[in-house]
Amino acid sequence: MTRARLLVIDDDPGLAEVIELLFTREGYATERAATVKAGLARVRAADFDLVITDLRLPDGTGLDAIGAIRTLRPELPVIMITSYSSMESAIAALRAGAVDYIIKPFDNDELLHAVERALKERFIARENAILKRNLKSAYRPWPIIGDSPGLRRVLELVRKSAPSDAAVLISGESGTGKELVAAALHYASPRAERPFVVANCGALSRDALERELFGQARGTAALEPTEGLIREAEGGTLFLDEVSELPAALQVKLLRLLEEKLIDVRFIAATHRDLAAAMERGEFRRDLYYRLSVISIQLPPVRERGPDRQLLARHFAERYARKLGKRVTGFDAEFSAFVDNYPWPGNVRELENMIERAVILADSETLTGRDLAEVAPALPMVRASVPLLGGARPLAIEEYIREVIERFQDSHTETELARMLGIGRKALWMRRRQWGLRRSRKSVSR
Ligand SMILES: Nc1ncnc2c1ncn2[C@@H]1O[C@H](COP(=O)(O)OP(=O)(O)OP(=O)(O)O)[C@@H](O)[C@H]1O
Ligand SMILES: [Mg+2]
Repeated sequence: MTRARLLVIDDDPGLAEVIELLFTREGYATERAATVKAGLARVRAADFDLVITDLRLPDGTGLDAIGAIRTLRPELPVIMITSYSSMESAIAALRAGAVDYIIKPFDNDELLHAVERALKERFIARENAILKRNLKSAYRPWPIIGDSPGLRRVLELVRKSAPSDAAVLISGESGTGKELVAAALHYASPRAERPFVVANCGALSRDALERELFGQARGTAALEPTEGLIREAEGGTLFLDEVSELPAALQVKLLRLLEEKLIDVRFIAATHRDLAAAMERGEFRRDLYYRLSVISIQLPPVRERGPDRQLLARHFAERYARKLGKRVTGFDAEFSAFVDNYPWPGNVRELENMIERAVILADSETLTGRDLAEVAPALPMVRASVPLLGGARPLAIEEYIREVIERFQDSHTETELARMLGIGRKALWMRRRQWGLRRSRKSVSR
């Protein structure tokens, strides 16, 4: 059996040994290097699945290692270990392209979880079914936070449909928690002890996807899959992510499988596109659509979840404070207002990332409006086009920019405002002129 291969770059032999022991026990193959140079030599020579690097190394920093690895092997995920005293380096690591960071001292579960998550994402991209098999049993979902009417309806549907074998279609914008809900459904079902297998229909070419799902080469007519993800999910649940991307030929194949009930698998599918509309346009088979959407769960975007934004923000602040060994007791009015007013086009994922960055950088136990300017690099996302379900109005970016200017101009400098908006100072000045938004007297004097 192929095992996932980890490289640990750390000059502290004690720590490297602890990590090595931990992962060997979990069935990984691990190697060590004590310097950036030695680490890069190993990356060049061997085929690793993941690198864990310390920040401070005798001949450079973990950031140097990340940069070099990004050039050598852009696909190779890197996790950086950093210490509490150099918290900014956690953000620097993420910016340099690390997939995650771990703060010293860390507990084993934390590191394991980070590694599993990073590998899972990599294997979905690399269609490595063998390694994926080793990971799925370790998949532990987080709790679902939310008390808004929309989320309550979702949780109610999860509770009601978990015991049955009915196929569930989950739709929602990017980052709304589709995979989390799918995992919750599985783990609340009688199939919980059996595998939860994730298949991303959007990540692979048609042929690779056919092999991945059915374990068969293109056009094989055999009815029952003998290997592949469908077979692996036997007795459990198969999560078909981005199901709208399923090529027509595979839609037919899947439909036959469902109709003839050849294998005992519960199907949960997810889409960020409007699948009903795709069906109307003839891009998705009608019969398959009805088979997959016996129960339909719609995840509302975060901007429609009212009180959940504060609940989510607090939940993530607590989680990341715990991860970082910090204390965060609350938010000031400005920070809270931002959480409530920002449109969160990247939904829960974006909110989570923003809070994580704010907690890393926070100097006090209260997260403040001033911390916002620091975490703002996430904001240029607003300008990305967001696929919206149900014909909802696209985000009014101008409105948002206006809102930020009006809300924060008294408390922030022009540079900070520009940074919050992800635009240059000159662009900010142009917008003001264009829209006749005068600087308030207070901000002019700063
Ligand atoms: N209600 C929630 N409570 C707590 N965490 C949540 C909630 N919804 C989402 N998350 C977290 O937000 C992140 C994104 O969620 P998830 O990956 O399930 O979204 P998704 O809809 O599958 O996104 P995409 O369309 O981009 O694949 C995850 O870290 C998830 O744990
Ligand atoms: Mg997803």
